[in-house]
Amino acid sequence: MKYSIKAGAADKINSECEIVFVWAKGILSDEAKLLDAAANKVISKVIKAGDFNGNLAETSLIHQPQGLSAKRVLLVGAGLKTKFNGKSAIKAIRAAYRVTQSLPATGLHFAIASVTVTDRDSSWLTSRLAEEGESSYYRYTATKSKNAKAPATKTVSISPINGGQRKSLDSALKRGFALGKAINVAKELGNLPGNVCTPSYLAEQAKQLGDKNKSITTQILGEKQMQRLGMGSLLSVSAGSAEEAKLIVMQYKGAKADSRPYAIVGKGVTFDTGGISLKGGNGMDEMKYDMCGAASVVATMGCVAELKLPINIVGIVGAVENMPGSKATKPGDVVTSMSGLTIEILNTDAEGRLVLCDALTYTERFNPRSVIDIATLTGAAVATFGSHVTALLSNNDDLASEIIGCGTDCADPAWQLPMWDEYQSLLNSNFADIANIGGPRAGTITAACFLSRFAEKFNWAHLDIAGSAWVSGAEKGATGRPVPLLVEYLSNQKA
Ligand code: BES
Ligand code: MN
Ligand code: ZN
Repeated sequence: MKYSIKAGAADKINSECEIVFVWAKGILSDEAKLLDAAANKVISKVIKAGDFNGNLAETSLIHQPQGLSAKRVLLVGAGLKTKFNGKSAIKAIRAAYRVTQSLPATGLHFAIASVTVTDRDSSWLTSRLAEEGESSYYRYTATKSKNAKAPATKTVSISPINGGQRKSLDSALKRGFALGKAINVAKELGNLPGNVCTPSYLAEQAKQLGDKNKSITTQILGEKQMQRLGMGSLLSVSAGSAEEAKLIVMQYKGAKADSRPYAIVGKGVTFDTGGISLKGGNGMDEMKYDMCGAASVVATMGCVAELKLPINIVGIVGAVENMPGSKATKPGDVVTSMSGLTIEILNTDAEGRLVLCDALTYTERFNPRSVIDIATLTGAAVATFGSHVTALLSNNDDLASEIIGCGTDCADPAWQLPMWDEYQSLLNSNFADIANIGGPRAGTITAACFLSRFAEKFNWAHLDIAGSAWVSGAEKGATGRPVPLLVEYLSNQKA
């Protein structure tokens, strides 16, 4: 969709669907008041009749209001004016787009110039309108032969919100639009089935990103090259698969060549059967989402290039398929990682960490300022946090606090779990330097402890997105998280 800032009195706007906010108890926003006065009190009547109260995320559509240039008016409940914070704004915006998606209106206008968000500024609200517009209109169509009619909306205009400078509102729109598109890139890669989105497919997407953006160079390492580097851990995961493993290395240059980069490293298990430690059949299809960390890295790289962030960033993805087979790794096998540490693989289903550890060691060569890995790593993270919060573990509390702050700011939250030394001994092995599982308890923490052994040379944070990367049930689909969090973090960094 196309987004623009459009000034003008609410009652003079010529739109196929004009959207205004109404506060709790039917208190009209300034724009709703203008429309009401020009349209023979039609809004007041809807409220008086009891059809609409202005509760948060409530909606009511008025057709062909007389006296207005707009073809439709969509009332959106915004709740208590004094409590209209960032979170409520997101709920109200989503409610609006939920209605507009099924309307034949090709153009929308948000008449919300007077609206203030208690804990956010006008740029934030403007940016969020574009981000939510893009992401809420996402449809998966790639592998369907018959598709439902696409939504009609082509343009969204937004009134210049209170106190916002035109220039900063314009750039806020661009930012929200870029972020929304990136969220959808991550959703699409996640949703594509495992027989389409293979390691080679992910590598191809990353290559295309490099072809499209001058600021990005993509390099793909195949199994031979990884063997030469000594990546015995990563390669042990793909041993049972006919699909060749790929290490994807994307370098974005937004600053001087010698400026130390920030690194993001994604788990790209394009399907996780568990390997010889085979998973149960129930819901196994959802293990196509085991590459959502990788998807968030690819999507974020595209987004930072579009936003022209003034820093250098390296995006690394370990892409593999975890399959059983005659050549597959067996429980008890010992492999040597690129770092030199030997690993006893007690459970082939704890494969994400085996992929990431070599990817992390590879990352050392870039001398990164910080490294964030993103992985659908443990079922225990889902048990701990459910789907709302990403689990965060780090070897640096300043980095952890910074990421938590970013998560709150962009409403893509992460929360920290401890990674104290007491947990490390759970990984002791009788037959190697380290075991790949730490027993049935504290699964998210022991997984992070495992990774920490390969992250000693940099400031590192680990995001376990097993709960937040996709939703199950009738609305099954990837969420695009934590792209907002990564973009927020990177946007705050300096060269
Ligand atoms: N990809 C899974 C983690 C996962 C499971 C994410 C379910 C979302 C939902 C990971 O590779 C895995 O299998 N982890 C095991 C680790 C265990 C064997 C120590 C797990 O969490 O059960
Ligand atoms: Mn697994
Ligand atoms: Zn996995």
